[in-house]
Amino acid sequence: MCGIVGYIGNKQAADILVEGLSRLEYRGYDSAGIAVYGEDGLKIVKTMGRMDDLRKNLNEFGKPVGSVGIGHTRWATHGEPSDINSHPHKIGRVTLVHNGIIENYVTLKKALADAGRTFISSTDTEVAVQLIDSLYNGDPLAAITAALEQLHGSYAFGILFDDIPDTIYAVRKDSPLVVGLGEGENFIASDIPAVLKYTREYILIEEKEIAIIRRDGVKILDVKGNEIKKDTFKASWDIEAAEKGGYPHFMLKEIHEQPKTLRATISPRLQNGPAGILKEEIDDTLKMERLLIVACGSAMHTGLLGKNAIEKLARVPVDVHIASEFRYSDPIMKQGDAMIIISQSGETADSIAALRLAKQRGIPVYAIVNVVGSTIAREADYVIYTWAGPEIAVATTKAYSAQAATLYMLALRMAVDRKTISDERANQLFNALNELPDKVAEILDNNMAHYEKLAAMNKDVHDLFYIGRGQDYALCCEGSLKLKEISYMHSEAYAAGELKHGTISLVTEGVPVVAVATDDSITEKTISNIKEVKARGAFVIYVCKKGAAAEGDFYDALIELPVTDEVLMPIVAIVPLQSYAYYTAVCKGCDVDKPRNLAKSVTVE
Ligand code: M6R
Repeated sequence: MCGIVGYIGNKQAADILVEGLSRLEYRGYDSAGIAVYGEDGLKIVKTMGRMDDLRKNLNEFGKPVGSVGIGHTRWATHGEPSDINSHPHKIGRVTLVHNGIIENYVTLKKALADAGRTFISSTDTEVAVQLIDSLYNGDPLAAITAALEQLHGSYAFGILFDDIPDTIYAVRKDSPLVVGLGEGENFIASDIPAVLKYTREYILIEEKEIAIIRRDGVKILDVKGNEIKKDTFKASWDIEAAEKGGYPHFMLKEIHEQPKTLRATISPRLQNGPAGILKEEIDDTLKMERLLIVACGSAMHTGLLGKNAIEKLARVPVDVHIASEFRYSDPIMKQGDAMIIISQSGETADSIAALRLAKQRGIPVYAIVNVVGSTIAREADYVIYTWAGPEIAVATTKAYSAQAATLYMLALRMAVDRKTISDERANQLFNALNELPDKVAEILDNNMAHYEKLAAMNKDVHDLFYIGRGQDYALCCEGSLKLKEISYMHSEAYAAGELKHGTISLVTEGVPVVAVATDDSITEKTISNIKEVKARGAFVIYVCKKGAAAEGDFYDALIELPVTDEVLMPIVAIVPLQSYAYYTAVCKGCDVDKPRNLAKSVTVE
């Protein structure tokens, strides 16, 4: 979950590293640092805190001068955030930045300590740098290769050797790392936006490959030292897309981008009628007898929406699993099953592990992924890209809606293939999918001030509940997570009918309950449950289709939604919930884009 950048060329490395790290700050932001080779040798500046703290230090103590360097933003796993635990770590002649976890660091640390080495930090990373230094006799490749044989766990390393100051070495396992290719300059980065300002060309480093990066070229070797010919990729992402574009926060920008990103995800797939949906990505859905959807966090919540739609429309059973639980649950997988991994980053460690388990068992894996060329995209058998563009805010918004739209397209296609819905119904849904981006735009054009006002009213409450049934419950899970992660307000999502089996005891005078009812077939039941909380003093915010707010005294505030096909309503309904969470966090003065303790890409178990 940390961010790595490296530069070698003729410009000032410090500027490029700081710029690149700022774009990767979403990957981790409890400390940051850079190491640069100049005429006086290596200079390291690092600090606990954010990029602004690093910038302050660089201004105060002077920017290292030189054109070769590596940098890091950290999301602490082993060892608390502190100056000493920040990267880069330098031991002897070796300096290193690391993203990942060295799982056998305790054993290795003991062996190295027994051999007389003294440790200065409490990180697992220092074990790696101590190990490489202990194995280094002037041959970097031999030292790195020997170290990799002993290191277990996940890593992306950028490594410098004092006596070879014109080269960066890079290697990875289970953590992302790309090599950016420039003219007379080259880069390494955890993620391509870090170097987009300088180049769009990049190479993906695979596991068990060592990248040797110099000003005038890049060589990729296998562990035996043989050079490997690599394909070069071109990033299509626009640098503008990774900037705030006038919005105060990336999250608000990304909420507003949803009409565009939904259109980009949906339109290309609707060119050949209902039966042609996702044809380029999946030729046969009939083989799918049962689907296992595996994902984490918000991506798992879209899985719940997908289950609802696929089961309803295509009558295919779908099990949704939390990825971190999946592989330890001795999961049943059998012939006829297919797995769908959903991930924005494509680098989520637990989702990758589930994918690999399915492949070992011979189950076909379909990935719904946003980041092109990410690990999940590369390892899955079939990839369906969501075209949401770079998502920077830690709280996902546009990637979530793009994932949900993709699952709805899949549900429709499966239903058409299986003839479980009529042609008329298929066309209805097809047309509704086409119009969906406009429905989302309608909300964004008209209602943001209302959500802001509601957020301000409830910003000081201690608990908040989201209730709904069926697809609305799945939606509530996401609404509640959004609020929790960025506003630090306690909230829970409940299936509306379940509340009275315990949790209703927490509903007292003034406790806000956001009640979502977009599915006409069960709205009456949900209204009964709303009346139960209203009778206990709840402040009810009722979210329903425009014009469907039944007369009555069971709500205190209303959020009305543009009407689209019932199955697709969650994509319309999520926008107010995202916006409500956003404005609550703003009212409370929280760091919206970089909430405490979280990282955008969770590359550790
Ligand atoms: O990159 P992924 O989609 O695999 O990430 C999964 C979760 O970590 C992610 O959705 C997380 O829950 C977000 N912070 C929610 O906003």
